[in-house]
Amino acid sequence: MAKRVLVSGGAGYIGSHVSVELIQAGYDVVVADNMSNCDMTCFEGVKKITGRNDIPFEKIDCCDYESVDKLFTDFRIDAVIHFAAFKAVGESVAEPVKYYKNNLMSFLNILDAAKSHGGCNVLFSSSATVYGETDKLPVTEQSERQPATSPYGNTKQICEDILRDTVKATAVYGDEVMPGLDRQGPVKGIALRYFNPIGAHPSALIGELPRGVPNNLVPYITQTAAGKRECLSIFGNDYPTPDGTCLRDYIDIVDLAKAHVAAVSRMLDGKMEEDYEIYNIGTGRPVSVLELVTTFEKVNGLKLNYKFAPRRAGDVTAIWADPSLAEKKLGWKAGRTIDQTLESAWKWECHLKETSR
Ligand code: WQD
Repeated sequence: MAKRVLVSGGAGYIGSHVSVELIQAGYDVVVADNMSNCDMTCFEGVKKITGRNDIPFEKIDCCDYESVDKLFTDFRIDAVIHFAAFKAVGESVAEPVKYYKNNLMSFLNILDAAKSHGGCNVLFSSSATVYGETDKLPVTEQSERQPATSPYGNTKQICEDILRDTVKATAVYGDEVMPGLDRQGPVKGIALRYFNPIGAHPSALIGELPRGVPNNLVPYITQTAAGKRECLSIFGNDYPTPDGTCLRDYIDIVDLAKAHVAAVSRMLDGKMEEDYEIYNIGTGRPVSVLELVTTFEKVNGLKLNYKFAPRRAGDVTAIWADPSLAEKKLGWKAGRTIDQTLESAWKWECHLKETSR
């Protein structure tokens, strides 16, 4: 019988791409999402790409424990990938309580249900933002986490620590630790620290679908190219970098999704060497904002309307990964080029325009 993976937040951008790769790797998937930040477009796309119309979809809020607990009762869950979280950096600064409440409570419920149902393998969607501003580049998993520069980033750091502590506690069963404590199922954990996920599935049936004005660079670029936005503002060209614009490690969304399959397989095939492991998921290649814009223009044969604007509060100058640990332990390495990724991003935007989205 195929192993089954619960994908919380699975109807969203990253969750839908991961669901496709999991199914195509032979896993069964249960998708849970409260639809607060997406519609059914990507979930319908997952069904079309995989040819599977039997993927269970549960519209639930992971902040409601009873709903999460029922998932573990209704389905035999072998692993959980937790994506369900708010992720807009700027919004988190304006509304910290909303972010701490949602991002922490949803993950706490997942872990509580996992250990109460005999234990589980938990994969947490973390972020390079936990490294903050550093000049020791590239960052490795041993690089020191800096104080978070936003409540969003802080929720990622806190959730990593919650997972670490839960793994440690459940490795030693309840009674042996504290008489009378209910026996807790063992939880094993992996945190994947993503750098900058961009692009779309080559089929153009799933991709990024930000609500309102995009916070992130690539959807803003594609919407500008499509005429939905007037002009792209490049936030800052006076940084101490080769062309003055910020450097990031842009990771193709399909490569990122495949990293999740590799991590889930490591857990389910009993290959973990520690009960809690962390991996950087990036390409190891820094690319500047201006380089990304000019590459987008070149590969798609179009001219983008952009201007230089003041720096954006909270941006770090540069960050990129040393991805060698994921290559060594997960057998995973990013394979798609930035050209291919930017072509896929534009193809997805064109699909949205054709379907008048
Ligand atoms: C990238 C670069 C901007 C928009 C954040 C989170 C990370 C992850 C991805 C959620 C920066 C510049 C952007 C624009 C611009 N989280 N930019 N004009 O801030 O590196 O990472 O989003 O998915 O955890 O920290 O990504 O795409 O917002 O910005 O010049 O209109 O593009 O200043 O240098 P970021 P981003």
